[in-house]
Formats: sequence, structure tokens, C-alpha cells
Amino acid sequence: MLDPRDTPVSTEDAGVLQAYEDALLSFQSFVGDPVSQLNRVLQDVPDFVLGHLFRAIAFYLSSEQRFLAPAQQSLQAAEGLLAQANHREKLLFAAVHKLVNGQWAAAGRALDEVLLEYPRDALALQAGHLLDFFRGDAANLRNRPSRVLPEWDEGTPGYSYVLGMYAFGLEECNQYAQAEECGRRALQLNRKDAWSVHAVTHVFEMQGRSREGITFLREREADWAVQNNFAYHNWWHLGLLHLEHHEDQQVLDVFDNSIAPGGEITLALLDATAMLWRLHLLGVDYGRRMQPVMELWSEKMAREAGYYAFNDFHAALAFCAADAVQDLRNLTEHLSHHAGADNLANVAMTRQVGLPLVLGMQAYQQGDFLTAVQHLDEVRGVAQQFGGSHAQRDIVDLTLLSAACKAGLDKRVRSLLNERQMNKPGGVLGQRVLAAA
Ligand SMILES: [Fe+2]
Repeated sequence: MLDPRDTPVSTEDAGVLQAYEDALLSFQSFVGDPVSQLNRVLQDVPDFVLGHLFRAIAFYLSSEQRFLAPAQQSLQAAEGLLAQANHREKLLFAAVHKLVNGQWAAAGRALDEVLLEYPRDALALQAGHLLDFFRGDAANLRNRPSRVLPEWDEGTPGYSYVLGMYAFGLEECNQYAQAEECGRRALQLNRKDAWSVHAVTHVFEMQGRSREGITFLREREADWAVQNNFAYHNWWHLGLLHLEHHEDQQVLDVFDNSIAPGGEITLALLDATAMLWRLHLLGVDYGRRMQPVMELWSEKMAREAGYYAFNDFHAALAFCAADAVQDLRNLTEHLSHHAGADNLANVAMTRQVGLPLVLGMQAYQQGDFLTAVQHLDEVRGVAQQFGGSHAQRDIVDLTLLSAACKAGLDKRVRSLLNERQMNKPGGVLGQRVLAAA
């Protein structure tokens, strides 16, 4: 059968196709859980090969090692059904096979092979976009959606989500005016598109339009903040915007109500950590809030250290802020010896970015700020290699600024501050970090 975007799916059962569509919509909109929806259909129809491929993608792109085994199981199940898979599903299998085996660059290219043949394959496109995010591949965050967009139009189901991806890619390529226009167009089509809300919010963040950004998010809270699994990250952005206005109590309120980790989803834990570490650098009293965050990282790192460098670095921030000396030591030793053992792409990420950053945080915690500056400086030009957005990776620059100040490197401080002021006039976080340091 063909899905509503004319992309072929190996099933003759309209109910199965509808279940795929429902799971896809959850994946695109962050409303509901695509994996439990896929589990239900696969229980009834275990030979639904696209369901297994989708499940492998959803698990693997969580960036958590605890979901690697179920991703591998789904991949194996799909492999056993390849004889009955169509051309699109075979191409998708080749990509997912590379992905789950940690060959991220090759997986990204293989997803393009799918999109060459099936440019309205919404699953392949979304998987590619998330992978580009985890790889910090700004060019492809923009270019992958741009390669297929002319094949979509307003009549194609899910069009707003493609515009949202393109908007975020434009923003990460610093094309702010186009990003805002594209994101707003997506929101005209679909008010509740959380990724497009996010793309436009990034523009406000990068351009220092923090008051506009706060108004934008607050006025639309009903669209993005209610029953949306991505809400924690848009709340994090709202907190960031409040920081620019010295509205620290609002930041703490946002943290307590909407960011503080209620579970062990790593992506939410990252934002909780990144918010508290900013408050740490700014000298804001955040009480005991880092303690439970640090404890969650401690449990996670006991199992997952070296799995994904971006996570390792945020664990190190929490350990540093909470003076968890032994956790920090365990992490640096683990990364020095075993980084990326079961995740190929992460080997290079850890060597080039993750380990120097974690060593930098260890030095920072020990009060050896000169060494911290050396490690952080080594990385800041290539930090995009371990993924995340410009807004997220700003935490490296803010930490470097703090370390440089504490090390008494006045000229370095001045040049870093000049850079911030020229690139984001009116931004206050640099000055606030200096005042606290
Ligand atoms: Fe973001």
C-alpha cells in the first residue's frame, strides 16, 4: 500500500498502515509514545517490517545505551523479514543497520539514498534530521530538508514538520531571517508543531531578542507545553531567555515546575543540568537542586559512560557543580581507556571533544583554572562535532569565560567578551558570568 505521502509500505492491511501513521505523527509531534504504539501493532502483526525498522530508529535515537539492545532486537527482526520487504524498506534497513552499529556518517548518507528514491519518506527524513542533530552537522540540518522540500506542498500530510526541520537547519546555519519566516509559516499551518516553535525560539535566542522570545513562548504555551514530550526543552529555552533579564526567580520556577527531572530520560536530564550549570556560573543560589540531578548522572554513568560524549560532558558539569570528586575521576578514567567501545561514531567524538571537556571540568572542579582553560580552548572550535545546537554548546564558551576569569587571563577574558558582544549585542550572560567569577 501507499501511505498518504505516496511512499510504499509492505502491508495490505489498512489498520496496520493507520497504526504506522499514528506512530509517525507521535514521532513528528512529540505527542504520545511512538514505541508503545508500534509495540501494539507488532504484537498483532509481527511481520510488519517497517514497524520493526521504525522501532529501531526510535530506540536508537534516544541517545541512551539502555535502549541499544531493543534497537538491535528490532533491527534483527527486520533483517529476518527482508525477503518480503519492498525497495524502500530495504534501503531503510541498510541505513538503520549502519545507524544501530554506530556508523553515523554512513547512516546519514544511507538515509539520503532512501530520500533520493522516496523524498516524501517522513520517517527517513526525521531520522536523518535527528541524526544530523546528534552529529552537530549544521549543514545537513538545513540541506537534508531542503533536498526534499520541493517534493512536498501544503497538501502533503505532515508538511509543517518538514518546514520546521528546515527552519531549525536554517537557524543552525545562522540564516536567522529565513529561519524565522519558515518556522512561522509552519506554525500557521500547524500551531502545535513543537519543533517549529523551537526553531523560532532559537532565532530569538541567537539574535538576543529575549523579551520577544518570552512573549512568543508564553502566549503559545497551550500549543507546545501541554502533553508534549518535547516541552521540557522549550521550557529550558524560556528559562534561558529569562536569564538574559536577570529574572532568576522565574528561571528557578520554570526549572522546578517543568525541567527538574522526574525520571531518567537523558534528554531531559541534559537540560536540567545545563540550566543549573548556567546558574552555577552566574553565582545564582539554586539550593540543593543539583544533588538529585548529579545522583541520576552517577547511576547513568556507572552503566553508560563513554556511550555518547554530549551526555558525558553534561554528567561532568553536574559532578563538578556538586563536588562529586570520585564520580568525576571515574568518568575521566573510563573515557581515557574505554571511550566508545560499542559505539563507533562516539570514539572520535570522545577523543576530540568529550574527553578534553571532561578533563576541563575536572580541572575546573579542582580549582586549576589555567588547565581548565587549556582543555576547553582545545575544544571550542570543534565542539559542534559532539552534537547539540549553538544555544546548547554556548555552555562551553560560558564555562571557558568563567575559567579564564578565575585564572586571571584578562586579555583572554576581554577577547571572549568582545566576541560575545559583537555576535549577540545586548546579551548579558557573559558579563554576569564575569561578575560571579
Ligand atoms: Fe534547542
